[in-house]
Amino acid sequence: MNFEIFLATAPGLENALYDEVKGKAFKQVKVVKGGVTIKGGWPEVWRANLWIRGASRILARVASFRVQHLSQLDMRAREIVWGDILHPHIPFRVEASCAKSRIYHSGAAAERVEKAICETLRAKSAPDADVTVMVRIDRDICTISVDTSGDLLHKRGFKAHVNKAPMRENMAALFLQQCGYKGTEPIYDPMCGSGTFVIEAAEIAARLNPGRARHFAFEKLVTFDPAEWDKMRSVTRQANDDVHFYGSDRDEGAIKMSADNAARAGVSAYTTFTQQSISDITPPCDSAGLIILNPPYGTRIGESKKLTPLYQSIGNVLRSNFTGWRVGIITSDATLAKATKLPFLPTGEPIQHGGIRINLYQTDALA
Ligand SMILES: C[S@@+](CC[C@H](N)C(=O)[O-])C[C@H]1O[C@@H](n2cnc3c(N)ncnc32)[C@H](O)[C@@H]1O
Repeated sequence: MNFEIFLATAPGLENALYDEVKGKAFKQVKVVKGGVTIKGGWPEVWRANLWIRGASRILARVASFRVQHLSQLDMRAREIVWGDILHPHIPFRVEASCAKSRIYHSGAAAERVEKAICETLRAKSAPDADVTVMVRIDRDICTISVDTSGDLLHKRGFKAHVNKAPMRENMAALFLQQCGYKGTEPIYDPMCGSGTFVIEAAEIAARLNPGRARHFAFEKLVTFDPAEWDKMRSVTRQANDDVHFYGSDRDEGAIKMSADNAARAGVSAYTTFTQQSISDITPPCDSAGLIILNPPYGTRIGESKKLTPLYQSIGNVLRSNFTGWRVGIITSDATLAKATKLPFLPTGEPIQHGGIRINLYQTDALA
């Protein structure tokens, strides 16, 4: 049985996610607002959760219909054969959102669908259930989906420690991809924090699946086949051992955190972390590759000015010591990016992240 599968990502990264999904042999890949859709069955759902680095969650579309009244929603929700998807003995919860629709009360919409499932399946709902049914009503079109991921997918299941402002793994993977990284060149993050860029890059080169060691909500659905899933997960691919990945940070705690996180992810052999201030950095290896970093960026008035000297020293050290390297800097502040005086290429559309708009500023190989 084929149905629509929605892979969500941060708004602004939809095209980057499309490129990743297309490159991994999924069918009927389309860009939509907030993500991409593919067509497939449950094995594709499992594979997408296991393989795709750039998605934040993966939803299986269960039904889509036009609706204008809560009574219609109730009736259509009862037509879905819930017993084909949910186990009666595993609790579920319903989340709803409404936009520009006759049904505007998301709480009431969630309640109707929840009641329909409880009564038709004889199942119980619970606010902390691992299985979530998602109801989205947009311009009177209701889409009902099951969240197949559970915890958001940037949680790869390895990081025991995170620093103050970590980059989400799924976004880091898409920024690396947008910078042209394919797993075959050195990567250096000189403000590595908890090591996200370095570890993602190393995992890509080692051809490790991002979902290899965590659990997913789909394991609690009727459609789950543990034997097939084990088979899918046990396929390993030849690592690219020729390349190494580097991180540095002025903070000793960050270096320890990064090294621990890399060890848990199984990429210690491919990574080196050293304590260093940005103004002291030099190329960590002979062949040039990609420098990628998200420096601190101020979100409050006045912070931007204070950070200008830091961005100036990033620009100075990269322009003088890193000939031949490409640069990718993620920041929310165009003025700070400009303060580096790096020869940035035109930027793409901004990415919405935690209430702010960030951008990837990238260069060609520095002359
Ligand atoms: C926004 S965080 C980076 C987060 C990181 N990408 C991650 O995913 O965890 C910025 C990092 O820059 C480091 N930093 C700030 N000023 C620095 C400097 N002058 N030299 C080196 N590192 C610096 C901080 O210690 C912090 O870890």
